Amino acid sequence: MVRISAVVGILVLAVLLASCGDAAVELVSVDTPAVAPLLIPPLLEPTVEDGVSRYGLTIGTSQHDYKQTGMTDTYSYNGTSVLGPTLRLRTGDSVVISVTNELDEATTTHWHGADVPAEDDGGPHSIIEPGETWVADFDVIQPAATLWYHPHAHGSTAEHVYRGAAGLLIIDDDNPAAATLPGTYGIDDIPVIIQDRAFTEDGQLDFAIDDGDEGKLDGVLTVNGTINPYVETPTGLVRLRLLNGSQGRIYQLSVAGADMTKIASDGGYLTSPVAIEQITLAPGDRAEIIVNVGVESAALIDGTFGRVLELRPNGSDLGMGTLPDKLATIERISESEITVDRSFDMGDVRNFWEFDASWAINGVQFDMNRIDVTVQLGATERWTLSSDDGQHVFHPHQIQFQILAINGEPPPPEESGWEDSVLVNGNREVVIIARFHTYAAEEIPYMFHCHILDHEDLGMMGQFLIVE
Ligand code: C2O
Ligand code: CU
Ligand code: CU
Repeated sequence: MVRISAVVGILVLAVLLASCGDAAVELVSVDTPAVAPLLIPPLLEPTVEDGVSRYGLTIGTSQHDYKQTGMTDTYSYNGTSVLGPTLRLRTGDSVVISVTNELDEATTTHWHGADVPAEDDGGPHSIIEPGETWVADFDVIQPAATLWYHPHAHGSTAEHVYRGAAGLLIIDDDNPAAATLPGTYGIDDIPVIIQDRAFTEDGQLDFAIDDGDEGKLDGVLTVNGTINPYVETPTGLVRLRLLNGSQGRIYQLSVAGADMTKIASDGGYLTSPVAIEQITLAPGDRAEIIVNVGVESAALIDGTFGRVLELRPNGSDLGMGTLPDKLATIERISESEITVDRSFDMGDVRNFWEFDASWAINGVQFDMNRIDVTVQLGATERWTLSSDDGQHVFHPHQIQFQILAINGEPPPPEESGWEDSVLVNGNREVVIIARFHTYAAEEIPYMFHCHILDHEDLGMMGQFLIVE
């Protein structure tokens, strides 16, 4: 019965998509120059006292010029028109980040990809009421990586992110191999936050939750809040820090007019640079790439939208970065260490009479009062991730994992680094391995969930505790 209802749902969806889906996409041609300079989120400087770096974030309402009819109401951090400033931390830093909520509704702020104690993780248990301030206090104990932050209150994550609240959290470290890479923020090291959006006739963000297999897919592509952007770059190597901050859209990214080399996945550098034709970036995913910009413009391209970003050389030769042969040492976690095996099956648990999907993991929907998984501190676990319905992005908090197998095969080099989010669908079963070695969390659990934000808000989330 459930199957029949799901099949009917899929057929209805297929017809809807065929009739109106891609027609609504505003395709950007590489043949015409881009129109708008890419907005670069400002860097947030800390105040440093007694060896502690203190950052202040305030989430509130603002307005952004998306070049629609008039200004668009947005949410943002620190009064930026959209998104939020970039935080740049360093491995070994002691960090205090205060987050003040100036919205008129409750929210949270989560450090996606960060290995921090559960009470500092900013998940749905760390609610910040309007007018209040929450303080996260942690040491940076992981290597260089491009992470990000975003609201995470259960039921409103999708909306708060959609309205604009999200930003980058970059970690640097002393890795000498990486020191030669392009690394001047906004010059040859460019943040690229990719989000699809829809606008109402009066130019406002057209937010909704879509309970379908793919979540909400929109027709207008924005990069750092800019539509049809270009960025002026030096000639030479340019680093792009790609983040898919979309609600449901998966991008197939390639580069035209230059070569693309992947240097980092979600959790940091790969062992060596990997020349690559195309990168699949699902919601929540990051990738760092190097593009060798020549005398003509190069372009980041998506399979659906066409040009994402024009890289326009400005004649300066400041792009002096070089690509080392070796980036990092990644110890493969041995399967002989595994203490526990678990499976997570992602799917729809709606019954025959329900029209709307009820997304769940292992047949149960999110319940803040239920602990789904208890992990022993010090354990190494193997998790098998599958989908019996729809496409999903499995994301556990706190850990960076390694992929052991995709459909029984070892992962390719570009997926052999540290990951915190991975695409799972009916054609792609993924086995991952992780160590839970850093923090116990006896009271506040960590989340694991689908990063298609519609699915997450509709219940595709569970909680794990790490106990001593
Ligand atoms: Cu991007 Cu639960 O997080
Ligand atoms: Cu997260
Ligand atoms: Cu999902």
